[in-house]
Amino acid sequence: MLPHIGLGTVNVQGGIGVKQLENALNLGYRVIDTSTNYNNEGMVGEAIRRSSVPREDIYVSAKLPGSSHEYDKAINLIQESLYRTGLDYFDKYLVHWPNPKQGKYVEAWQALVDAQKYGLIKTIGVSNFMPEHLDDIIEATGVTPATNQIEIQPYFNNNALIQECLKRGVLPEAWSPLGREINDVLTNDTIKEIAQKYNRSTAQIIINWINQKQVFPVVKASQYIHQTDNFNYLDFELSEDDIQTIDALDKGEDGRVEGQNPYEYEEFV
Ligand SMILES: NC(=O)c1ccc[n+]([C@@H]2O[C@H](COP(=O)([O-])OP(=O)(O)OC[C@H]3O[C@@H](n4cnc5c(N)ncnc54)[C@H](OP(=O)(O)O)[C@@H]3O)[C@@H](O)[C@H]2O)c1
Repeated sequence: MLPHIGLGTVNVQGGIGVKQLENALNLGYRVIDTSTNYNNEGMVGEAIRRSSVPREDIYVSAKLPGSSHEYDKAINLIQESLYRTGLDYFDKYLVHWPNPKQGKYVEAWQALVDAQKYGLIKTIGVSNFMPEHLDDIIEATGVTPATNQIEIQPYFNNNALIQECLKRGVLPEAWSPLGREINDVLTNDTIKEIAQKYNRSTAQIIINWINQKQVFPVVKASQYIHQTDNFNYLDFELSEDDIQTIDALDKGEDGRVEGQNPYEYEEFV
């Protein structure tokens, strides 16, 4: 059973990053989301070693880049990522993007299935997979991913894909839930009004909205004040009306933070 929030780590790096991650672990965060392309696997390992929290209580989730979808490359990359962190295993490992035009995501998934058997990874999942991609890998290997990490924020609520995940027994995770300082969901007037009503921050309203959809939120916060705010969002519930009001802020494809539609967008790092 996952805790109620995961810590995103985009741009959390180096010595400052180690301190920020240590702060988060001391606050009670236990799920850390990293990736080869965040260039911070070393920082993650260092923070875990310096922290007083036992390794077995921490849940490290990492990701396979598109440049390593070929089977042998994937197996090597997972090991290289472990060496960079200095960890013996990842708690979870995801195929970062399907890159469907390359046609290699099934091969990548097979590598994760086998890496799990070798003991390199405890749990395997995917990210940015659309329903067809999920069906392809399940049909080819008989193994259903534990999670699918996808974009979910008030301007792109991704409700249909959430339902497709839940229908298949895949736990959806939300990335960029606060809009990554690219959009203005944190200062949106409608969300601010709801926040005033509950006497909460807009961030807590958004994270709660995600959690009430049976989605696991992965939120990046490097500042202690933000880490504290986000960690303490669970002790209230949004009404169904307020959930629907936030759902209505959806802008369809135009609402994506960076227009990254997984059918088209490709990422290799
Ligand atoms: N699978 C994928 O393809 C994918 C794609 C994108 C992201 N991700 C993962 O998802 C994580 C989260 O997404 P994200 O980093 O793009 O953006 P995000 O979590 O939506 O937003 C992070 C920004 O919000 C600020 N913030 C956090 N809590 C706040 C609060 N309570 N009040 C005001 N501001 C607050 C942070 O500030 P400070 O840092 O200054 O505290 C930071 O600038 C990433 O870090 C990464 O781990 C995955």
